[in-house]
Amino acid sequence: MRDVSDAPDTSATPDRPSEVTVEPWWLDAIFYQVYPRSFADSDGDGVGDLTGVENMLGYLELLGVNALWLSPVMRSPMADHGYDVSDPRDIDPLFGDLAAMDSLVAAAHARGMKVTMDLVPNHTSIEHRWFREALASPPGSPERERYFFRDGRGPDGSEPPNNWPSIFGGPAWTRVTEPDGSPGQWYLHIFAPEQPDLNWDDPDVVADLHATLRFWLDRGIDGFRIDVAHGMAKPAGLPDHDWSDNELLHNTDDDPRFDNPEVHEIHRGIRKVLDEYPEAMTVGEIWVRDNERFGEYIRPDELHLGFNFRLAEAPFAADDVRAAIEQSLAAVAQVGGTPTWTLSNHDVEREVTRYGGGAVGRDRARAMLLVELALPGAVFLYNGAELGLPNVDLPDDALQDPVWERSGRTERGRDGCRVPLPWKGTEPPYGFTTGQPWLPMPDDWAPLTVEAQLEDVTSTLSLYRSAIELRANRPEFAGPEVDWYGSPAGCFAFRRREGGLTCVLNATSGPIMLPPGTLLLSSSPVVEGQLPPDSAAWLI
Ligand code: GLC
Repeated sequence: MRDVSDAPDTSATPDRPSEVTVEPWWLDAIFYQVYPRSFADSDGDGVGDLTGVENMLGYLELLGVNALWLSPVMRSPMADHGYDVSDPRDIDPLFGDLAAMDSLVAAAHARGMKVTMDLVPNHTSIEHRWFREALASPPGSPERERYFFRDGRGPDGSEPPNNWPSIFGGPAWTRVTEPDGSPGQWYLHIFAPEQPDLNWDDPDVVADLHATLRFWLDRGIDGFRIDVAHGMAKPAGLPDHDWSDNELLHNTDDDPRFDNPEVHEIHRGIRKVLDEYPEAMTVGEIWVRDNERFGEYIRPDELHLGFNFRLAEAPFAADDVRAAIEQSLAAVAQVGGTPTWTLSNHDVEREVTRYGGGAVGRDRARAMLLVELALPGAVFLYNGAELGLPNVDLPDDALQDPVWERSGRTERGRDGCRVPLPWKGTEPPYGFTTGQPWLPMPDDWAPLTVEAQLEDVTSTLSLYRSAIELRANRPEFAGPEVDWYGSPAGCFAFRRREGGLTCVLNATSGPIMLPPGTLLLSSSPVVEGQLPPDSAAWLI
């Protein structure tokens, strides 16, 4: 990380500022997303946990990442694997306890790694104290005001209050039984029925999130990934919508469930708390495609970073990838923000599979890693990507994502990218657990284990390690500007204007000649100056 605190004292020079500026650590950090259920299990119950993460910090240090992002570890009945929080200021026993969290944070800090956590402010679990109180209280009560309780439509109120669908399928409303036993009001849940949406107009909701932020920041947490950061404000009157282009797990920019202007006031409130902790940061999950509207979330008084999913959505084709990069840079440039890059996470198909699977998919994923790490800004890596893991086709009876049942078993959901990590050995569970892994692990992952890849210089893990090390240490990666060069169809080349690194992508089916320069790294072997198909190279 850049740290100029050792720079010479220039205070004697009248035309230079006397303060030495240290750039925020997250500006060009590599974040590693730990999906805690699937990373490493220390107690043999088949589900990963915080001590498992702590035990593997040496591995993450070797990989060279700067920060962890832990998907939710707060108390939860796990209807959506932790994205349904029943107590935001405690650790779920499945993952450990507050002492285990403190221990992980201390151990990560001792190795120079930051720890960031997922926060879920859009909704709670149905087991949250507030929701139970709301169910036990009458319509119109302050307890119900913390959520969206509405009377149903139709003469007997048996129709949902509006026509919104849930992101996971089925209606976004569930009817409750009133305390006196009569059929009652409906509550809004943009996700599963176990995830009632909070009403951010209620001051209790605002105050409680601020208390949660301070609770974790005071314990040494370095920042937060904010779940559904574009969804916390709902439009007045909750109007009906024409859903003709609705898809499960996706939203368009005109979707009334998301990106309502009032959401920015919520982010300003969060930022005020964060500013009490000057080193801390937030990154929001923002599924907004319009650049101008995306940029609004990372204005100087809102989120520090916004997740940009364009690279994760682009097919492996030079023009599409280039457009994704240019759009991502443009979206943040207008507000002086920092770009972010991600190829995958716990909600999308793994890149090896997305790019075609097998050896071709793996080669393309390796190439895209070099593209991603050549760009200015912060990078988010999803656990297992460094091993080149593919998505897994799981049997029906193993599926746990609520999407599977909610869609009437038509959508398989996201379990395929959440299969536990293989650490060592030749058969499942590959050192992940001493028990039964919570999702079955494939029989053919022996070559993909950390143990198998660590000493193999041609492995995907070795490529990640080399690329991350070069990016951290070489001056050629400096500066925010990217210039594009003319290149053959199906290829592209860009150069970091300040540092001078050139990145070439060959997405065609034949080899191409590399431009002049010294080869720093390539995703497949360069022979006589030729870059093979489905490959990328770094030149200086
Ligand atoms: C976000 C999370 C996803 C979760 C949803 C509801 O999109 O990334 O995993 O299901 O929010 O909390």
